[in-house]
Amino acid sequence: MKKSITDIDVFGKRCLVRVDFNVPLDEQKNVTDNTRLLGTLPTVNYLIEKGARIILASHLGRPKGVYKEEFSLAPVAVTFSKLLGKPVKMAEDVVGESVKQMADSLENGEVMLLENTRFVKGEEANDDEFSKQLAELCDVYVNDAFGTAHRAHASTAGIAKYVPVAVSGFLISREVEIMGKALSSPERPFVVILGGAKVSDKIGVIKNLLDKADYILIGGGMAYTFFKALGYEIGTSICEFEKVELAKELIAKAREKSVNFMLPVDTVVADRFSNDAHFTAMDSSGLPTDMMGMDIGPLTSSVYCAIIKKAKTVIWNGPMGVFEMSNFSHGTYNIAKALADNTECVSIVGGGDSAAAVTQMGFKNKITHVSTGGGASLEFLEGLVLPGIDCLNNK
Ligand code: 3PG
Repeated sequence: MKKSITDIDVFGKRCLVRVDFNVPLDEQKNVTDNTRLLGTLPTVNYLIEKGARIILASHLGRPKGVYKEEFSLAPVAVTFSKLLGKPVKMAEDVVGESVKQMADSLENGEVMLLENTRFVKGEEANDDEFSKQLAELCDVYVNDAFGTAHRAHASTAGIAKYVPVAVSGFLISREVEIMGKALSSPERPFVVILGGAKVSDKIGVIKNLLDKADYILIGGGMAYTFFKALGYEIGTSICEFEKVELAKELIAKAREKSVNFMLPVDTVVADRFSNDAHFTAMDSSGLPTDMMGMDIGPLTSSVYCAIIKKAKTVIWNGPMGVFEMSNFSHGTYNIAKALADNTECVSIVGGGDSAAAVTQMGFKNKITHVSTGGGASLEFLEGLVLPGIDCLNNK
């Protein structure tokens, strides 16, 4: 068990809080999805209330160790300040004399934001020198960047070696508590729904959950690699041909275990990758050679939704089809609705596309927990140790 901000005294302390402000921006630099910013508010508000001096640090995008204006966090500081209802001072740089002075002169309850940590090469290299420079800015390190906790970078892990106190914020604690409980002692039936384009992204999750879940429901583009493994004709559907053998092994493993590993019984196919394409639903076992799978079919939706209806714990990661196109969004919509309608279950939606889908479809408030981590939540579900959490002080 890791220490959290409630276990320490933060009054008057300079607290460097690693947040995940890696948020999407439009061309006018408006934040188009503020889920991660909202997720950080409880920690920042708590620290303000307790009289801490708050230095926020985050990356944005992948600028690869050099300053690039389009990756500046300045527009994010403006949005975060509005959500917080308080000024957020924007630093000109990540570390260095002027930044140190700004941090040292913060009053209790004041908030500043460092520039993008990935403007410095040492960040992704988890460089000791850069970790020390970050550590010099503060008395306490708080990690609340769940979305980046799978990265062993200077601001997510390295810094913890050089600060006497390293604890988690509320967002990390909540993510770990809810997903951790689902993995260690889920209320049953425990249903895992996996979609998205690639089997390769989900191999670790499937392997880890084969022993734990009662049902694993597969949808999305990854289903076609499994169909191929079963010898079905998949037409022009997306397929990871080099993963077909592995898909066979996963199907065989699932058969050995008591898990119900389910593939879509029907598929919506289209003659091209477009919302204007001709489309129809058909049995999954033989798709026409000139058509591609775009969504799970209506029969699959009703089978999956009936399982979700009875579930007590559901983890969902990855859309069921090309939900960005309205004609192929029905499978994803049906699953999201079934999940939202089951008020008796703990529902967890992994970050990335499935989180975007439940948000766009208006179901977010009916889900127990929408994770702020894409890659991080997948690694957590794989049972891997996340460096950003591992580096924190034990209770
Ligand atoms: C994310 O959006 O998944 C995190 O912020 C991590 O970003 P990264 O994949 O660029 O490390």
